Amino acid sequence: MEALYNLVLFCVLFSILATCTVQDTITVDQVIRDGDTLVSASEIYELGFFSPGRSTNRFMGIWYKNISPQTVVWVANRETPITDLSGVFRVATNGSLLVIAGSNKTTVWSSETPTTINPVAQLLDSGNLVVRRNGEESFIWQSFDYPGDTFLPGMKLGKDLVSGLDRRWRPWKSLDDPSPGEFEGLMDTNGFPQVFIHHGSVPLTRSGPWNGNTFSGNPSHSPSSPINLKFVFDDKEVYFMFTIANNSLLSRAYMNPEGYFLHMIWVDRSHQWFTYWQQYINICTRFGLCGPNGWCNPDNSPSCSCMEGFEPRQPADWSASDWSSGCQRRTPLECPKGDGFRVFKNIKLPDTRRSWYNRSMTLDECMSTCKSNCSCIAYANIEITRGGTGCLLWFDDLVDVRTVEEGQDLYVRMSQSDITINESTSKPSYNKKRGIIIAAVSISSCLVTIILILVIVYAWNKKKTPDERIKIVDEEYNKQSQHDDDMELSYFSLVEISMSTKDFSNDKKLGQGGFGPVYMGVLDDGREIAVKKLSKTSRQGVNEFRNELKFIAKLQHRNLVKLLGYCNEGDESMLIYEYMPNKSLDLFIFDKIRSLTLDWSNRFHIINGIIRGLLYLHHDSRFKIVHRDLKASNILLDVDMNPKISDFGLARMFRDQENEANTNRVVGTLGYIAPEYAIDGTYSEKSDVFSFGVLVLEIVSGKTNRGFSCQMDDDNLLAHAWRLYEEGKALELLGAYMRDSCVDSQVLRSIHIGLLCVQHHAKDRPTMLSVALMFDQDCALPAPKQPAFFSEGTIPNVNQISISEVTMTTLEPR
Ligand SMILES: *[C@@H]1O[C@H](CO)[C@@H](O)[C@H](O)[C@H]1NC(C)=O
Ligand SMILES: *[C@@H]1O[C@H](CO)[C@@H](O)[C@H](O)[C@H]1NC(C)=O
Ligand SMILES: *[C@@H]1O[C@H](CO)[C@@H](O)[C@H](O)[C@H]1NC(C)=O
Ligand SMILES: *[C@@H]1O[C@H](CO)[C@@H](O)[C@H](O)[C@H]1NC(C)=O
Ligand SMILES: *[C@@H]1O[C@H](CO)[C@@H](O)[C@H](O)[C@H]1NC(C)=O
Ligand SMILES: *[C@@H]1O[C@H](CO)[C@@H](O)[C@H](O)[C@H]1NC(C)=O
Repeated sequence: MEALYNLVLFCVLFSILATCTVQDTITVDQVIRDGDTLVSASEIYELGFFSPGRSTNRFMGIWYKNISPQTVVWVANRETPITDLSGVFRVATNGSLLVIAGSNKTTVWSSETPTTINPVAQLLDSGNLVVRRNGEESFIWQSFDYPGDTFLPGMKLGKDLVSGLDRRWRPWKSLDDPSPGEFEGLMDTNGFPQVFIHHGSVPLTRSGPWNGNTFSGNPSHSPSSPINLKFVFDDKEVYFMFTIANNSLLSRAYMNPEGYFLHMIWVDRSHQWFTYWQQYINICTRFGLCGPNGWCNPDNSPSCSCMEGFEPRQPADWSASDWSSGCQRRTPLECPKGDGFRVFKNIKLPDTRRSWYNRSMTLDECMSTCKSNCSCIAYANIEITRGGTGCLLWFDDLVDVRTVEEGQDLYVRMSQSDITINESTSKPSYNKKRGIIIAAVSISSCLVTIILILVIVYAWNKKKTPDERIKIVDEEYNKQSQHDDDMELSYFSLVEISMSTKDFSNDKKLGQGGFGPVYMGVLDDGREIAVKKLSKTSRQGVNEFRNELKFIAKLQHRNLVKLLGYCNEGDESMLIYEYMPNKSLDLFIFDKIRSLTLDWSNRFHIINGIIRGLLYLHHDSRFKIVHRDLKASNILLDVDMNPKISDFGLARMFRDQENEANTNRVVGTLGYIAPEYAIDGTYSEKSDVFSFGVLVLEIVSGKTNRGFSCQMDDDNLLAHAWRLYEEGKALELLGAYMRDSCVDSQVLRSIHIGLLCVQHHAKDRPTMLSVALMFDQDCALPAPKQPAFFSEGTIPNVNQISISEVTMTTLEPR
């Protein structure tokens, strides 16, 4: 009886254990049936049977356990689908992994593992399915050696030169069919190794040789990127792989059935794959488009021309946009005498499949080696790191030469006459006038080409044509760093920012700043941030962005908004600030409901904070800074309702002796612009004082002064305040709801000072220093004159105020 009881207990316990523990390993005694799964130890990957897309066929594969929709990273029986639910996965006693299906138990897939005894199969947290001898560490077989459409961190693309194993990238035929399609990514080890993408057996595109940082012709890879690239080339193996700095980040390089390549990162917060690198395709991506010695530049029209010193081999074909015949030398070489080398800059190095290389030579040694052999036609350093190392020599035509933004120097042998005549230019010399006609002819064929061949640059970065934006932050940052050693600006990665803002989702958008949208985000450490993104379409934005960075990075004050860091990756530029939970002042004072929450003491506190901030800008910081766009929506409020001045996009710095400046372009916001600025375009710190005065009157009254230059009735805020002041009823300016909480003397003083600040003539306005003293002390105040509310024929010609696009955008609350 007791034995039976024990048996029952054992069975119960066993079944609990069996169902509760995650199983990541199977032995020869176990099977995984369709419906069962293996799960890696940390529950990242899951192995089992699935149906891709709209297909009902079953395949054994590996996917992310916690990602929906199901994202498959590896498939076993790619070419042998199972048509029913009879599939079984198991380990044979000889170590082979088997997928068996059907009533007659046909083997539909076998891993062909080298024979071993006592094998176990395990699904690792890296996504690798491995076979090993029980108790041993080393793998006898691993799924990472048989890639499909996905490369996971740690997978190698390339060859094991000892065993001959060639790991290629084989995308699916379609989203419904995981069998290998027409595209293939592979490491070509002829000459100096390069990665090629083939369509069938035709090379579609080429990575360029590895230059120590990335593949030649690609934008350099940032060391701060969460993704690390690795290229290994030694006696035993040649491969490329990526790894991830933080293993908690899920990342995959995926090639879709059209041969289009994406590198993606899973963003937990938004539950979607974020494309970290997208393949950038242009006509020059196509391998050898311009033929031998042709030169491709996507910015030119047509994109193909001959390298300097060369001319089309078949001019008729060229003018018909058939560039395949390429170019030939204009002047034959006269080696060994009379030749020299001409340097071409910013080049993606030509095809290296037939080149000779020595990885330790210097450039000088490389040159003399090439010079001494008349069949050598070009040379270049292999690596750009450490000042340039290694030597590549070409003996054939130069194929697939492109101009790129961050390219390498290529030295091409040329007859002395070709070098000296056109020494200054290194532009291609193909006839430009004819080019226009060719462009028209070629555009249609271009389009077809581009659509037909969605080719892949092995571009592990998506930077495009030169764009000044890309460099702004770095430039400014470097400049700053030189001057301000104490300044600490953090760099944020694009991934980090994307994650924190849910991939810049609309519900995270706080508003529109002068140079682009502003998003709210939460960093991993819980810090809340505001992200100002430079809009890709705004030219003006670039200047404002630059300006903002220039000023705000220098300034530190508790009444100025704090810049935490910046992000500058690909063609995205962003500034990251502390997040202001109460957003901006205008949302309080001009809102009927919310203004009730802001009693007099709050308002007085805010006015004082703004004074401190302006005092710092005008007098206390090392530079005199005029903000030029002071207004309620640029006063941000922290959780304790402390005001912080923001948005330095229009700010200007004054040197020591300078007090006034002039501008052709009046910028700023209607309702806040000082008259001398609106009329003459002259501005000084007193222009800010004017805006401050308007702001004070707005805070006190809860009314906006906007549109004062359009409305000619005296009902605008300044006129209204002036009339009440003159009639001795200034307290009536105060919103009724504040009467209970107010301190009359403070209110009157605020209105009085506000009116002094909005005087028509700049010289009649106090400086911020005086303003601060006036608020702090009970001294007698000078009597204000009639302020500048433009009611007596002083309205400036509105056409003369070039209210720029900036002004119009700043009319929107930021
Ligand atoms: C291992 O065994 C399976 C089935 O028992 C067989 O199909 C496979 O060919 C064997 N593999 C080797 C390498 O012998
Ligand atoms: C297994 O059975 C299926 C039908 O169930 C049949 O079509 C197939 O030919 C059989 N295979 C072998 C090897 O007997
Ligand atoms: C990796 O990322 C996770 C969450 O994103 C974070 O908690 C962890 O601290 C990071 N680890 C390192 C070493 O940065
Ligand atoms: C490469 O060049 C270096 C320096 O000239 C030389 O010492 C070395 O033997 C060369 N290696 C090969 C494989 O030619
Ligand atoms: C020049 O280089 C080629 C290719 O490496 C080689 O076959 C040939 O022998 C060399 N000629 C001389 C004169 O060194
Ligand atoms: C030099 O360049 C000019 C145009 O830049 C071209 O017309 C001329 O033919 C070139 N001469 C040679 C020898 O390449």
